[in-house]
Amino acid sequence: MPDFTYEVEDTALAQQGLERMDWVRERMPVVRGIKEEFTRTRPFAGMRIGICLHVEAKTAVWLEALTSGGADIAITGSPGTTQDEVAAALVAEYRVQVFARKNETFDQHLDYAARVLATEPDLIADNGADLHVLALTNADFSGARSKIIGATEETTTGGFRLREEIAGYTFPTIVINDSRAKRIIENRYGVGQSVVDGIMRCSNLLIGGKRTTVIGYGACGQGIARYLRGLGAHVTIVDIDPLTRLEAHTEGYDTAELHEVLPTSDLVITVTGRPGALKRDHLALLKDGAVLCNAGMFETEIDLPGLRELSSESRPVMPDIGRFKLDNGKTIYLFGEANSVNLSAGDGNPIEVMDLGLALQSLSLAHLATGYRSLPAGPQTVPREIENEVAVRTLRAWTSGQK
Ligand SMILES: NC(=O)c1ccc[n+]([C@@H]2O[C@H](COP(=O)([O-])OP(=O)(O)OC[C@H]3O[C@@H](n4cnc5c(N)ncnc54)[C@H](O)[C@@H]3O)[C@@H](O)[C@H]2O)c1
Repeated sequence: MPDFTYEVEDTALAQQGLERMDWVRERMPVVRGIKEEFTRTRPFAGMRIGICLHVEAKTAVWLEALTSGGADIAITGSPGTTQDEVAAALVAEYRVQVFARKNETFDQHLDYAARVLATEPDLIADNGADLHVLALTNADFSGARSKIIGATEETTTGGFRLREEIAGYTFPTIVINDSRAKRIIENRYGVGQSVVDGIMRCSNLLIGGKRTTVIGYGACGQGIARYLRGLGAHVTIVDIDPLTRLEAHTEGYDTAELHEVLPTSDLVITVTGRPGALKRDHLALLKDGAVLCNAGMFETEIDLPGLRELSSESRPVMPDIGRFKLDNGKTIYLFGEANSVNLSAGDGNPIEVMDLGLALQSLSLAHLATGYRSLPAGPQTVPREIENEVAVRTLRAWTSGQK
């Protein structure tokens, strides 16, 4: 049994974290139901689960279900998205090994991911594939790798990395993002609402009448565009895929190339799942006073080193807003330091949506814990029975008025 180590901002914040969790728990009926089942069936008895997922209240309520199922847990989050009070509550009240701070740097994040793996988990639940990359490509973790019997991966970007950057799988990974339930309900509706909410909350700006550009019209981009339009914004879509641009046009949006639309956009949002969607040359084209934010998994969608090179001065002007004075005389505002704006400047996806997403995670992890021997190594989709089961339970909860 590894030592009980952790790294959080301040354990004295635990009571605030517990209060946040109370509000959320009452609105997560599907995960609550799974917790009751896990208390009886104990699918994770004697197992350790190593997790990389935003350390915030919805995740914490999900961890109650996993610990009720017998799991010991070590978790890290992502830069900019940790709720320090929730991290404190998990350590102080639930004896979860947490390695996460709201203001951690990317290098610290990688160090924290390594510390999660060092606890030698049986299962991993990943978000962006950082735990996978360490376990499967770094010789220092060969011992940890040999203990892992299965994994999940939450995101679009993580799914790309698993399929493009990693070979030599030794365990099965269920990619939660491959489910229709996640892509439609979470990515489209959840991300759509929460990204626009994060922008409004941290800036107090009016969306109506703004010229907005969404870069990437996948599941998330479609949702963001839909909510922006609903609030009266003019929305232009930029996407590298011609069929996707045609789809956006048919949906009634303007479509354009980046260089055409950036000089007139008030608000620009990247959500492609790929690095370098906005490069240095694009940044120089932005309109004076433009707001820039990222809703994708990693801040690398925006060329931040390029932005710094173009700027003679940069400083925070509000908690989640940075101001950059460019050498060309323009001023650009960057929200949430280019971390996912719905998490860094808001509370992340809506509670009900994450109830569904974390139910998919729960049943997928239980499926791995009990049935990993019959699954092939490598990335794979969520079993259809699990997806259907979660859809049935969620619809029942939402239509019966159950909180
Ligand atoms: N913030 C959140 O809460 C949250 C939640 C879910 C997913 N995500 C992340 O959002 C990102 C997008 O996810 P998705 O499910 O919409 O992905 P997706 O693959 O469905 O869509 C991405 C779109 O971007 C386009 N694209 C790719 N590179 C581009 C480029 N350089 N310029 C313009 N368009 C480009 C693709 O053609 C595609 O249409 C991922 O990083 C995902 O992990 C964030």
